[in-house]
Amino acid sequence: MPRLRSLLFVPGDRPDRMEKALGLGADVLILDLEDSVSPAAKPAAREAVAEFLCRPRTATLYVRVNPLDSGLIDDDLAAVLPAGPDGLLLPKAEGAASLAALDARLSEFAAPDAQRAGEVAILPIATETPAAIFSLGSYGGVTSRLAGLTWGAEDLPAAIGAATSREADGSYTAPYQLARSLTLFGAHAAGVPAIETVYPDFRDLDGLAAYAARARRDGFTGMMAIHPSQVPVINAAFTPSEAEIDHARQVVALFEANPGAGALALDGKMVDAPHLKSAKRLLAGV
Ligand code: COA
Ligand code: MG
Repeated sequence: MPRLRSLLFVPGDRPDRMEKALGLGADVLILDLEDSVSPAAKPAAREAVAEFLCRPRTATLYVRVNPLDSGLIDDDLAAVLPAGPDGLLLPKAEGAASLAALDARLSEFAAPDAQRAGEVAILPIATETPAAIFSLGSYGGVTSRLAGLTWGAEDLPAAIGAATSREADGSYTAPYQLARSLTLFGAHAAGVPAIETVYPDFRDLDGLAAYAARARRDGFTGMMAIHPSQVPVINAAFTPSEAEIDHARQVVALFEANPGAGALALDGKMVDAPHLKSAKRLLAGV
């Protein structure tokens, strides 16, 4: 599985921007056929995305298709699957049933063209409908295509007639804190990375850095971006600092030096099994 630290959206009807998006340092580009493309522009966008996918691959390329019940996804899949995207972002996903449905579609396609569609990953956007909230614990054990779980804070308020998902200071209101938290635990319950949602105010890079730092603190390991300037900030936020690596090495070394010990002291603080687990997890990602 490729690294999912920074995933940059590029509208599917903007081939010029797809070109620019290469070489910005994003781990994944998400070529969008859904909300950033108007209905009239979707046919041309499908063609542009397929054409871009057919070039020699220099980046990991995902495509955001339209939702399963949109009446548009058949045309999306027919256009892009022959070009072999690395993954699909599934909007308006509603748990295991949605994941199984897309998995089946991909497997059907894989039969005649196994090489190209066989390994297509799926990254669900898992909080965009009211029903989706009640399925966030169901993503595990459905398909090995599941690459992670991410969420969105824009579609759900629109779906339920809420004015906004944010307080005046930009922090999430209680319903969207819940959606974010359930995504985080749903991803870890399914054994896949939790991916933080976009930070729409793309001129506010200090705010983005703080937002991404909170995400990493909480257990997200990557984040989606909408603008080139966000990519380096996100990459930095999800990369452990030298001090963190150093501390993790000290924890591991301490337990190695004291085999059989359960709890030990490091710099005047207790460290035990969860600290060792965290340290090993951090070092595994370095
Ligand atoms: N991918 C690649 N390049 C992008 C880009 C993106 N997502 N967003 C902006 N750029 C490029 C522009 O082409 C421009 O390049 P140039 O300097 O060579 O002309 C440069 O970055 C600066 O762009 P800027 O003027 O700051 O942004 P904008 O006002 O033109 O566009 C957005 C702002 C939000 C419309 C644009 O960033 C965008 O389309 N983002 C993705 C939206 C999306 O996909 N949303 C769906 C998921 S939420
Ligand atoms: Mg949307």
